[in-house]
Amino acid sequence: MAIIGNSKYEERINHHIAKYETKRSAVMPLLYIAQEEYGWVNQDGINEVAQLLNLDPTQVKSIAGFYTMYSEKPKGVYWLQVCTDLPCALQGADDFHAWLKEELGVEEGGTSADGMFTVEHVMCLAACDKAPMLQCNFRYVEDLDQNKMRELLAKWRAEAAASMNGRSAE
Ligand code: FES
Repeated sequence: MAIIGNSKYEERINHHIAKYETKRSAVMPLLYIAQEEYGWVNQDGINEVAQLLNLDPTQVKSIAGFYTMYSEKPKGVYWLQVCTDLPCALQGADDFHAWLKEELGVEEGGTSADGMFTVEHVMCLAACDKAPMLQCNFRYVEDLDQNKMRELLAKWRAEAAASMNGRSAE
């Protein structure tokens, strides 16, 4: 695992570095790439981003620590961020969030025992008319209810299992 020298990310990394006047401005998109590779922003990812941008790792770490979209601890395969800000709360988001945690047996910010799902609440994601809504690995899923969510959880579990089987067959 690495982002430096990884052909999967080379084009994106070069694109981000090239588009800013100063290299250091690419720190946020590169942190996203590190998070994508490692599942969270770990020290290896921080060191690599720092190396790519000629920054000190402590500077990169402090930026990662400031923003909630970067995770400083390992997450489940699916990172579920439920908006519970006021407009969504008025449309049942709090109850939905509480139900989802109970359904997966997790506390706030916790990960299900099978390592599949991390649940946490976040502030407005600018989809207030689609509540309850969440983002799953940064993709929006909207107009949720318990039935729809149960179906999605089953689908995502099946996809993760298929992907792991594919990997073990390689
Ligand atoms: S308050 Fe939930 S998306 Fe805006």
